[in-house]
Amino acid sequence: CGALAACGSGGSASGDDDAITMGFSQVGAESGWRTANTKSIREAAKAAGIELKFSDAQQKQENQIKAIRSFIQQRVDVIAFSPVVETGWDNVLLEAKRANIPVILTDRAIDSDDESLYETFLGSDFVEEGRKAGEWLVEDSKGEGTVNVVELQGTTGSAPALDRQEGFQEAISGSDIKIIASQTGDFTRSGGKQVMEAFLKSHSDIDVVYAHNDDMGLGAIEAIEAAGKKPGEDIKIITVDAVKDGMQALADGKINFIVECNPLLGDQLMDLVQKVVAGEQVPKRVVVEETTFTQEEAKKVLPERQY
Ligand code: AHR
Repeated sequence: CGALAACGSGGSASGDDDAITMGFSQVGAESGWRTANTKSIREAAKAAGIELKFSDAQQKQENQIKAIRSFIQQRVDVIAFSPVVETGWDNVLLEAKRANIPVILTDRAIDSDDESLYETFLGSDFVEEGRKAGEWLVEDSKGEGTVNVVELQGTTGSAPALDRQEGFQEAISGSDIKIIASQTGDFTRSGGKQVMEAFLKSHSDIDVVYAHNDDMGLGAIEAIEAAGKKPGEDIKIITVDAVKDGMQALADGKINFIVECNPLLGDQLMDLVQKVVAGEQVPKRVVVEETTFTQEEAKKVLPERQY
């Protein structure tokens, strides 16, 4: 507050009564992607002068529901969240709607018949990401006969796990590529390692690992090396995200192909927040632009990679 202005008791932590307050419920800190996403959101909120109430759900839907209810009670101006799973949101989002608090989905979508429960969804096209992974493998394995793939899935019931599986299946259908085993590694490095260890024990004929994110792929590399095999050569690896550690493994020849999933959503999110709070019209869906990387491309871009 300025010297002559009185501070209202309901003022924001920044001392600016006009500042927008946003409640943000993050999935957790399960991956390098998530860490980069959280940093981007925190920095963008600060730069835009938006007061951020940040809550980490530790990969649990019940924690996200509690956080959203608490944001409603605190009467924030807007709620944004990245839903850990797709279903089960209607009741709590109806509570936000009745309290006249707009909701923005970021990174992950929800599965609901009622589109009025949120203003907009900002995030990647996960089906397209899975499709790109499958298309690369179809091209790469042409003329090789049967190709056996094991799939390390993301969190069960989450949009990226469901959609990346769907897109990949679609791209490989009609080819000689077969998914011989599929299990969740919960998007974590330790989960990817554990599941890959089990796959290696029960299958002697694995040609390719398709991991729904870099972290699980990096865990799989540890398991493959511990089993005395060469990742990237004896067993090919395809992942999604393109975080620094993943790109380093790609440049080192341990991963064969990465589909990018961009975590730097902060600035676009703050822009949508400002528009939604001002009552401006926003598109119902904002898709993030993304690319793919081969080993050669990774070597070129690695020095400038931000996350
Ligand atoms: O929702 C995005 C996914 O969640 C990322 O691909 C993964 O790394 C993260 O945990």
